[in-house]
Amino acid sequence: MRVLGIETSCDESSAAIVDDARHVRALATVSQVALHVPTGGVVPELAAREHVGALPAVVAEALRRADCDWSGIDRIAVTAGPGLIGSLLVGVSFARGLAEITGIPLAGVHHVHGHIAANWIGREPPRLPAMVLTVSGGHNDLVYLRGPADLEVIGVSLDDAAGEAFDKVARLLGLPYPGGPAIDRLAKEGDPHAVAFPRAWLGDSLDFSFSGLKSAVRREVGDAPPEGRRLADIAASFNEAVVDVLATKAVEACRRTGARSLHLAGGVSASIPLRERCRELAAAEGIEVLWPTEFVYCTDNAAMVAAAGSFLPTLSDWRTLEADPSLSLAHALHA
Ligand code: KG4
Ligand code: ZN
Repeated sequence: MRVLGIETSCDESSAAIVDDARHVRALATVSQVALHVPTGGVVPELAAREHVGALPAVVAEALRRADCDWSGIDRIAVTAGPGLIGSLLVGVSFARGLAEITGIPLAGVHHVHGHIAANWIGREPPRLPAMVLTVSGGHNDLVYLRGPADLEVIGVSLDDAAGEAFDKVARLLGLPYPGGPAIDRLAKEGDPHAVAFPRAWLGDSLDFSFSGLKSAVRREVGDAPPEGRRLADIAASFNEAVVDVLATKAVEACRRTGARSLHLAGGVSASIPLRERCRELAAAEGIEVLWPTEFVYCTDNAAMVAAAGSFLPTLSDWRTLEADPSLSLAHALHA
């Protein structure tokens, strides 16, 4: 099945042509990161306006690179939520228009289902059931996966997502947006045990909480961003605290459910320390750990949306598909 994927839920205008959720024929993405650097985060109105300007060209570019016309597309998959409402509306409206004009079936995809499906790209279909840790700027979930479109959320963040914590702490430390890569780079030069930051284990729960950790960094930093060695030590210790909690809970979730494989997904799955810690803890249990085959499939991209769209058993009506900024996974999969 050949799917055109469209993703505009945050600050990436992206389109892709993907065959059988595995072979990426083309991926074209225009990132707005540079636009949002001065504010240290995404400005919703600016993001939506940028999508309006970029999306048509991005879709045309994906078709051109795949050397493909509309007659070769079996399905159009678009992120319907969650995300920024203005940004989502641009993608959904555009996809609805394309579906009407071309007569190609339309699938509304949940953004996190997209991140989960990213682990199908470029490899043999993973063995299931599996546990997925989806960690990005907007999401921090543990999802038990019985089939590629049969999932159950068993852990969520009660406050900030890990990526959001990276971004907010980076701002406290005077580092640029997005915070994850900046902290990751700096952490390599610091001592991860220099500052004993708290870990919110939340008893036996598989839920997460990162707001206490963020406040602890704020207290540690005080009034002025630290510099040099101390800055690196704080970054490394914060990084270590996040990785420790994410990896420990993810492997514990595998143990409890009997999942023999752990998938990492979302922007934070680009973190090498997170990957290594998960592998280390999982190895002792005989659990395999995998993450997207390329960095671009960790962060927001339309190839993952196309992959998820090809798994959906239920299609959407181009007349009624709505952008939903707080779409739930269960609703998206059973609608
Ligand atoms: O999946 P994504 O592109 O967008 C959302 O759906 O939110 O994830 C972006 C998030 C940002 O918060 C960014 O700081 C984080 O992923 N991130 C990282 C790394 N690379 C990106 N966090 C930790 N370590 C990294 N290497
Ligand atoms: Zn995302």
